[in-house]
Amino acid sequence: MTRITLRRPDDWHLHLRDGAMLKGVLPETARHFARAIIMPNLVPPVVTGDQAAAYRDRILAALPEGMAFEPLMTLYLTEGTDPADVAAAAASGLVKAVKLYPAGATTNSHSGVRDLKNVMNVLEKMAEIGLPLCTHGEVTDPQVDIFDREAVFIDTVLDPLRRRLPELRVVMEHITTEEGAAYAAEGGANLGATITTHHLIINRNHILVGGIKPHYYCLPVAKREKHRLALRRAATSGNPAYFLGTDSAPHVDALKEHACGCAGCFTATNTMPLLAHVFEEDGALDRLEAFASLNGPAFYRLPANSATLQLVKHEAPQTFPEKIFTEAGPVTVFNPGFPVHWHVET
Ligand code: DOR
Ligand code: ZN
Repeated sequence: MTRITLRRPDDWHLHLRDGAMLKGVLPETARHFARAIIMPNLVPPVVTGDQAAAYRDRILAALPEGMAFEPLMTLYLTEGTDPADVAAAAASGLVKAVKLYPAGATTNSHSGVRDLKNVMNVLEKMAEIGLPLCTHGEVTDPQVDIFDREAVFIDTVLDPLRRRLPELRVVMEHITTEEGAAYAAEGGANLGATITTHHLIINRNHILVGGIKPHYYCLPVAKREKHRLALRRAATSGNPAYFLGTDSAPHVDALKEHACGCAGCFTATNTMPLLAHVFEEDGALDRLEAFASLNGPAFYRLPANSATLQLVKHEAPQTFPEKIFTEAGPVTVFNPGFPVHWHVET
């Protein structure tokens, strides 16, 4: 039996939703994670400081008795966002980042940004006050192949933006390509990148070979194997540019197993055992703590957690629930497709 102890991890990119779904999925994250950056793509989106405060209250009200969890709130950037409202929400400590969704890029992104020119006043204010911009880094031009959308975003949107506003602190969310990993490595102290659990485990074959597997469909979509391997090298490198953002994104099974299935993998339940498996496989168990518990707080200028989490490797494969049953409906837990011997000891 192998046992490792880590500082308690945080999730720097999480979808909790609202209402019955929030109530069902929140304990899955709070069981293992101390804090999470909460995505604002609700319907309607979380745009203002007041809306973020109300959402934070709903999250805390949904937290089961006896569980500790700190939601780190974000604002959804629109072309109508008021820079003064963003600055006030950041100054109060409520809001830790602003999320850029290119309009049409993903789930509930239609209120997102069509042209960065229309939000430069907000971005300039964020650069001034040091508030990070979390980017969904994909272009939406229908002419651009879905597998190229991240690399084209870096060249045509992100890099020009960072040259124009070098003081802006940016997180490349859920990178999925070797180009993304390479760009993040060279970006200096104002650039970070989150990597999901599932993008370390699946490539596009998992989605498409032997029948369509809707529970492996997410955005940005998983790419070729060489990209997965580049993400593995990045995550396990210990480089402070990279940190865990699960992008755990619950949708009820009826909407995943659908003619137009929703994007998202639900990994909150088993992320930490899966990461222990991945890091052990790559001979990097000693760097799991940097990825899951240290690099993220350092980027966000927050202290690392003082509480700890124990991961234990058992002789026998461990079992995880295939689904969790929320009052909104069943949600399938990400299945890595291989036996996992690691378990979080509670
Ligand atoms: O797979 C995804 N699911 N990617 C996103 O960008 C959004 C998310 C969601 O909200 O379901
Ligand atoms: Zn997301």
